[in-house]
Amino acid sequence: MTRPQISSVTRLIALGAIASLALAGAASAAAVDPEPVTFYGDVARVLQQECQVCHRPNGANLGGMVAPMALTTYEETRPWARSIARQVASRAMPPWDAAPQHNGVFANERTLTQEEIDLLVRWAESGAPAGNPADAPEPIDWPSSDGWLIGEPDLVLQFDEPYFVEDDVDDLYIYFKTTVTDEMIPEDRYVKAIEFRPGSSAVHHIIVPGLGGIAPGNDPVIHTDGMADVLKAGRDLQWQMHYHKEPGEGTGVWDQSSVALKFYDKDEDVKYEVFNADMGKYDFAVPPGATDYTIQTEWTFPSDSEIVGYLPHMHLRGKAAKYEAYYPDGGYEVLLDVPNYDFNWQTTYKYKERKKMPAGTKLVLTTVFDNSESNLANPDPTATVRWGEPTTDEMSFGFVSYINEENKGRGAFQGDDGLDLTAVVAFSDESRDGKMQLEEAPGMVKQYFEMMDQNKDGAVDMEEAKAANAFLEQMAEQREKAEAAAAGAAGG
Ligand code: HEC
Repeated sequence: MTRPQISSVTRLIALGAIASLALAGAASAAAVDPEPVTFYGDVARVLQQECQVCHRPNGANLGGMVAPMALTTYEETRPWARSIARQVASRAMPPWDAAPQHNGVFANERTLTQEEIDLLVRWAESGAPAGNPADAPEPIDWPSSDGWLIGEPDLVLQFDEPYFVEDDVDDLYIYFKTTVTDEMIPEDRYVKAIEFRPGSSAVHHIIVPGLGGIAPGNDPVIHTDGMADVLKAGRDLQWQMHYHKEPGEGTGVWDQSSVALKFYDKDEDVKYEVFNADMGKYDFAVPPGATDYTIQTEWTFPSDSEIVGYLPHMHLRGKAAKYEAYYPDGGYEVLLDVPNYDFNWQTTYKYKERKKMPAGTKLVLTTVFDNSESNLANPDPTATVRWGEPTTDEMSFGFVSYINEENKGRGAFQGDDGLDLTAVVAFSDESRDGKMQLEEAPGMVKQYFEMMDQNKDGAVDMEEAKAANAFLEQMAEQREKAEAAAAGAAGG
C-alpha cells in the first residue's frame, strides 16, 4: 500500500556515470542502395527530428542540459559519423528506455525507425559525404539564451544565494531552499507552465519536488488548457541539484539556477489538478551481490481517472521497472515496461492520449535492482542497500500523474492512507542501519516508540514498523465499522 502524503519524496537524480551499452545488434542490412546517402539530402533531417533537442549549440540557458557536441551542421557532425553509427545501431542513442511495444504511445518518444538507423549507418560506412547544400532542410531555430519557451513568466524562482561549484568538484549532490513568500503569491495558484533554467554549465540535473525538474532533453511543462499543477503559498521549495563537470584548476563556476512559472488567471477555468501518486516502498534492503532484487507496490484507483504520465525512479542499482494494470472487469495490461532502466535518463513517459483508468483498477509497480558487480554503475556490490536520498542509497518509486473527475481542485491522493511508519523509519534513520533509534525518532513518533519497539532492543526496525502500520489500519477499520453500526442504529 502506498501512503504518499508523507513522502515529500526526493527525486534525487542518479549519478552521470558510464552506462553499459548493449553491444551493437545487427547493424545495417546488406542491401545495396544505388542512391548515395548524404548529409544534406538525408541525414540532416533525422538529426533535426531526433537528436538536436539535445545535440545543439550550448545556449547560456541550457547549461549542462545539452549533449557534449552539437549535431546541427555538416562540419559539426562529420567527425562523429562512426560514433553516430555505433550509437544508433546499439540503440544507445537517442536515449529511450521503454520497450518497443510502447512505440507510438508516448508524446515525448525518442526512437529511430529501422530505416533511419540503416540510413545513418550507411552514411557513415560510405564515408559520410556532404551532398548538395541545396537539398538541406531549413535549419531549426533552437531557443537562445534569452527568452523563455513558455512566454513571459509570472514568477521566476531562484535559490536564495548563488553557489560556487568548486574546482575539484566532479559529481556533487546538494540541496537548496526557496521560500514562496506572501509577496510572490498571497494565495495558492494554479500553474499552467513550468520551465527550468540551469544557471551554469555544471548543472546536470535539477529536481524540485512539486514542480518537477530538468534533465538532458526534457522540455518545459506546458499543461493542456484546463489542467494545472498547484503552487502552494508559503511553502518551501527544495532544490536538489546535481552538478557534474571535469574537475581541475579554473573549472569552478557560480550557479544560481531558476525556474519560471506561468499561472492561470484567477478567473480562468481550471478543471483538473494534476495529481502525482508516488507509488513506492521504504522497507527494503537489497542484499550484497543480488542481481534481481524485486520490489512490488500496489495501488488502486479510488475513482475514474486518466493517467497523464509516468516517471519511474531508482538510483544506481536500478535495473528495470514495470507498471501493470488489473482492470475491474478482469482485464490486464502492461502500461509501461522499462526493461533496461538507466539512471542517466530520468525520463517522464507522457501519453499522447491520456489513459483511462476505471475506478477499482489496480496498478502494480515492479522495480528490479542489480547490486552485483556486473552492474557497472554499482558503487559498492558489497553493501546492503536501503532507502535513502543519496544515489549510493536506493529508491523504489513509480510516479504516476493523473487527473480525476471527482476530486478536481483537491489532492485526491492526500489523506488516502494515513501515516506510513516504514517511511518514518526510512526518513529518520540517520545512522543508516535500517532501524530508527529513539534519538532519531521525530517528536510526534517518540511517544509511541516503546509501543512500536516490540522486541525491546531499543530500535524500531522495518518489521516492527509494518506491524505498527497493520495495527493502525485495524484501528481505522474498527472505527469505520463502529461508525457504520452507529449510523445503522440511528437510521433503524
Ligand atoms: C535526450 C537527449 C539526447 C538525445 C535525444 C540524443 N542524444 Fe546523443 N547524447 C546525449 C548525451 C547527454 C550524451 C553524452 C553521453 C551520455 O551522457 O550518455 C550523448 C552522446 C552521444 C554520442 C557519443 C558521444 C561520445 O562521446 O562518443 C553520440 C555519437 C550521440 N550522442 C549521437 C546521437 C544521435 C545520432 C542522436 C539522434 C539519433 C542522439 N544522440 C540523440 C543526449 C542525447
